[in-house]
Amino acid sequence: MTTRIAVCPGSFDPVTLGHLDIVRRARSLFDEVVVAVGINAGKAPLLDAETRVRLFTEAVAGQDGVRVVRMPGLLADLCTELGAAAIVKGLRGGADYDAEQPMALMNRHLSGVETVFVTGAPELAHVSSSMVKDVARYGGDIAGLVPPAVSDAVHAAISAPPPKDGRS
Ligand code: PNS
Repeated sequence: MTTRIAVCPGSFDPVTLGHLDIVRRARSLFDEVVVAVGINAGKAPLLDAETRVRLFTEAVAGQDGVRVVRMPGLLADLCTELGAAAIVKGLRGGADYDAEQPMALMNRHLSGVETVFVTGAPELAHVSSSMVKDVARYGGDIAGLVPPAVSDAVHAAISAPPPKDGRS
């Protein structure tokens, strides 16, 4: 029997409970889920790629059929390399769809792989990585939005001095 692999891509800066909800839902539909921690050219990350991979790996530890990889290049190329059956992305609302639809078309153009959209848990619809960082920056409580280890890493990164190369 062929193993049907889904790729869940994102920048995951940082992973949130919303992302973990989508990965669980993807795993209920596919034999294996590969979480791909990638580069979004439009965003300057708070956490480096290695930290984002580590935090996601820890967050899914013990979940059978889920693994986390770093994606240094194109999502379409990773999907081809893995023989992925689909890309799975979570939608919180219409704005997410508007952002995701051109990427889904481009990834299908490049690799032939379809994107499957999954509706996340409504109680997590307000949770995004960017809002988590914003809340943390201004002293708000991010427990309940991210796993505890992620909360610690975000607070540490926010209070660290900026790198000398000017990267934020
Ligand atoms: O969580 P994000 O920032 O919305 O994730 C975007 C991400 C990383 C999935 C997207 O930028 C991506 O796929 N980057 C890898 C490079 C790539 O394939 N670019 C073309 C996308 S159509």
